[in-house]
Amino acid sequence: MPVVVVVGAQWGDEGKGAMVDTLAKEADIVVRFQGGANAGHTVIYKGKPVALHLIPSGITHEHTVCVIGNGVVVDPKALLDEIEALSSLGISITPERLKISDRAHLTLPYHRMLDAAREMAGSRLRLGTTRRGVGPTYVDKVDRVGIRVGDLKFPERLETKLRINWEHKQAFFNALPPDERPDFNAVLDELLKYAELIQPYITDTVTWLNEQADAGKRILLEGAQGTGLDVDFGTYPFVTSSNTTAGGACTGSGLPPTKINFVLGIAKAYTTRVGEGPFPTELQGEEQVKLREKGREYGATTGRPRRCGWFDAVLVRYAATVNGCTALALTKLDVLSGYPEVKICVAYRWRGEMLTTFPAESFILEEVEPVYETLPGWDEPLSECRSWEKLPANAQRFVMRLQELVGVPIATVSVGPERSCVLTKPDAPSIW
Ligand code: IMP
Repeated sequence: MPVVVVVGAQWGDEGKGAMVDTLAKEADIVVRFQGGANAGHTVIYKGKPVALHLIPSGITHEHTVCVIGNGVVVDPKALLDEIEALSSLGISITPERLKISDRAHLTLPYHRMLDAAREMAGSRLRLGTTRRGVGPTYVDKVDRVGIRVGDLKFPERLETKLRINWEHKQAFFNALPPDERPDFNAVLDELLKYAELIQPYITDTVTWLNEQADAGKRILLEGAQGTGLDVDFGTYPFVTSSNTTAGGACTGSGLPPTKINFVLGIAKAYTTRVGEGPFPTELQGEEQVKLREKGREYGATTGRPRRCGWFDAVLVRYAATVNGCTALALTKLDVLSGYPEVKICVAYRWRGEMLTTFPAESFILEEVEPVYETLPGWDEPLSECRSWEKLPANAQRFVMRLQELVGVPIATVSVGPERSCVLTKPDAPSIW
């Protein structure tokens, strides 16, 4: 009964997509369990990059069934655009290959407007969101006025459902200039059109996934974003609106904790973050630009430059605890080649105190000073290394020190974007 969860151990963009893509080769089913079109993974298919926002990265493997779980919020337009883009590349999307939970919530066109409104220049609520309407969709879910994918199966009930949601938004609509207010009938017509197109994929994925797990199928649960962005465990309020951690894999798929066998945390050999919020190891000025350019750190969804800094072992140790990581996959080690010295943040200094655990308060994280351990770097480019043994001694030493600080075995180290660049450590626990 091999069920594996893959989660981000930092603030997202750790390289989960590429890792899932590699693991998906051996999986029967790949499941997204939270988030929405805010996520962005680029996978390479027949030499061409494919940007995925909602559909799990496993879609490029013909034998893999992809599931959009109940914990995901689905923007139907983004989904249909993605299906079209994949089909045009020759990737067949059929109801046998793509299943969408009837319990997942729908992002409506005005959820994006609500998201953009709180992000307006000068807004005190500004978080630097992706403006994909994800937060407002989850608000409706928790407020119990949301429209779910399963509602699309009953078009005759959609008008009433939409009316309830619409009335809930009156204050917002009234504050808009009249020519910017959405039109009820236009939104309803759009929903009815989506209902027809999405209908074939709608599935009771909770029952289906549990049956597949009981039948011994290999299931990969693919997290989006990262632990630092989890609505409970992240740097609140500078977080996304879902549980990005391993517990969210259960609530977002319907697979219970007793069926999870392995939790793989993904961490980059340094740290990045997009959007607002505290980032203790963030580099400044030219140092930050240098790391960003070396790592090509620009957002897959929004193209925004990512903030960059050294590896934060306090954050990743916390992530390993919260997720119960069985092992870690370390990505982008090659980016650190050429630094005479590499740094690891081992603790935070705050108002004369030494903090070794990740504080709940964002203002504390804004104020802390990172305490660094400095290790000798390595000059050799790593992208040609094809085994752990071939890595320069200082690169191995860096990885071993991270492992010691985080307290979880590092199973693999990536030295480039291709599948062959994932090097397995000799003592790595086996995933499947
Ligand atoms: P939202 O998820 O669009 O509401 O954005 C909330 C926060 O999460 C912002 O700081 C975003 O930059 C961040 N975020 C959302 N999705 C991703 C992602 O896929 N990678 C990295 N950061 C993300």
